[in-house]
Formats: sequence, structure tokens, C-alpha cells
Amino acid sequence: MPFGALVSAWNKRRRSRFQEHTDPWIYKPVEYWQIEDQAPHRTKRHHGSSVFTLKEMEEATCSFCDENLLGKGGFGRVYKGTLRSGEVVAIKKMELPPFKEADGELEFRVEVDILSRLEHQNLVSLIGYCADGKHRFLVYEYMQNGNLQDHLNGIGETKMDWLLRLKVALGAARGLAYLHSSSAVGIPIVHRDFKSTNVLLSSNFEAKISDFGLAKMMPEGQQETYVTARVLGTFGYFDPEYTSTGKLTLQSDVYAFGVVLLELLTGRRAVDLNQGPNDQNLVLQVVKISHSNGFWFSSFKDHDELILAMENE
Ligand SMILES: Nc1ncnc2c1ncn2[C@@H]1O[C@H](COP(=O)(O)OP(=O)(O)OP(=O)(O)O)[C@@H](O)[C@H]1O
Ligand SMILES: [Mg+2]
Repeated sequence: MPFGALVSAWNKRRRSRFQEHTDPWIYKPVEYWQIEDQAPHRTKRHHGSSVFTLKEMEEATCSFCDENLLGKGGFGRVYKGTLRSGEVVAIKKMELPPFKEADGELEFRVEVDILSRLEHQNLVSLIGYCADGKHRFLVYEYMQNGNLQDHLNGIGETKMDWLLRLKVALGAARGLAYLHSSSAVGIPIVHRDFKSTNVLLSSNFEAKISDFGLAKMMPEGQQETYVTARVLGTFGYFDPEYTSTGKLTLQSDVYAFGVVLLELLTGRRAVDLNQGPNDQNLVLQVVKISHSNGFWFSSFKDHDELILAMENE
């Protein structure tokens, strides 16, 4: 081969290698993704490593037909699907406007990287993912009873009695405790988007935490000092210290867990825009009534007494 042709072929190969490193849409296995907070390499992936093609995702969901639609969130639609193996799954399809695609891609990678290393009966399992061209899908175990918020609002079919609410609260607490302990990946993890739509319920109402796209590893020594430039999460669940200072701690999840406990107690949403202007935020509403009545939660005899106090406000 003439020298000129050799140099040009070498340059072409070098350019394409450079492009592979800079273009986030070129598929590389999860081991090669550059994630700022990557877990220590010694932590093992338990599951979630199955890689699917776009064709497999289409086959599983009858081409994303409406009958298979389970719900829709900020990342995109979620469909019920059946894999070639016969396994029934939930498939989350990334559908974001172009200006949000880079954030979506990062959330997708964090979710796959973190969730595939976690294993606990109160965390939803990731079965695999699809990164085919620009298409992104996350494939999870299917949770027959959907999300907790729908049941509290009466959308779900089952009326949740107190024992069931307690079971769900305990399950979610166990899932969070596992995330916060170092037993998961060797470093505590803060979820950052704990809320009632991210608590999913299995066929026997076992609670499982989902959505790890905003999760953040908190190494020792960073736990007191880590300050984020952007506050991420969901309105109604933000810990006031985090929103006022950007200081993210494991306690931000504990605060959000407290908000979910209030939802379990009252059956109301953390933020409900159908309420009057002063009653849209559940925490503020509860704080207001407990102050104005001169008592705190512990003094409510039961759920009905708390609801009555809220309605008399
Ligand atoms: N593994 C699953 N099994 C069954 N249903 C699921 C599963 N994952 C999600 N869903 C359903 O799809 C809905 C949408 O989920 P998604 O996580 O995209 O949004 P969200 O958590 O409701 O809201 P947001 O994305 O705005 O935070 C959920 O509320 C739930 O009802
Ligand atoms: Mg969710």
C-alpha cells in the first residue's frame, strides 16, 4: 500500500476511535461508559446486563401499542412487555426533547450502572437495557400492582388497610436502609427521587423502590460536604436544607420518606394542585394544622382524627 494511503487509513481509524469516545450515541458495553460516580470496580453486577435490540423491544410490546401502556413519567412511557424467553417485564422508553437528551443519557447510564449492582427484595430488579442507535430502553421486572400513589388516590383497585400501609412503609424503609448502608456497593447511595410513584408494588404488595437515574454515591468524607450545583428531584419531597444550600445528604431521602409516610397516613398527594392555594403542599398543610392546634402528630389518636383536623383547617 502506498505511504499516502497508509497515513490516510491510519488517520481515519484514529478519527473514528476519537468519535467513539466523544459521541454518546455510539453503543459501548456498560463497562466502558464514563460515569463520574462509577461504583468501585470490585462490586459485582448481579443482573441487568442483558442487552436487547430495538426489534426485541418492539416484539415484546406489540410495537408499543396503547393496550400495553402502563404509565408515563418524565423520562418517557412505560409498557408491559413479554420477552422472547416468555418473561413478563416493564419496558421504559426514553422519549425526551433534543435539549434534554444529554441529561436523559446520563440518567440512563447511572440507572444501569447502579441498579445492576444492587440486589435487595425491596429494590426493583433491572433485567437489562437496550441502547440501539439513539434508542434507549430500560427493562425491569414487572410489578403487578403498579405504583403506591395510585392506590392511595383510589386509582388502584385495592383499598389499602392499615396493615397493608404498614407493610409498604416497612418494605420501602428496608430498601432505603440497604441503599444507605455500604453493603450495597461499598459506598452509601442517596436515591434523590424517593416518592410514592417510585414505590412499586408486587402481586403480594411487597414494596420495591424504583428509578435510580438521579442516585448519587456518597463516599466517606463527602457525606457532610457534598454540594450540588443543581437541585434535582421532585417538588413536594425536597428536604429544605438541600434546596436552600444544595447540600445533599442521605437525610434528604429520609425527609422524602417522611413525606411518603404522610401520604400513607392521609391518602393525599405530596403536592395537589386541585387544593386551595394554601393547601397544595402536604407538609406545609400538616405543619400548619399541628401548630394551630397546639399539638404534634403523636397526639392524633388515629388517621381519621388527622384527616378531620385537616378538613377543619
Ligand atoms: N417495573 C414496573 N412495573 C409496573 N409498572 C411500572 C414499572 N415501572 C413503572 N411503572 C408504571 O409506569 C409509571 C411511570 O413510571 P415512571 O417511573 O416513568 O414515572 P413516575 O415515577 O410516575 O414519574 P416521574 O418520571 O415524573 O418521576 C409508574 O408510575 C408506574 O405506574
Ligand atoms: Mg418512577
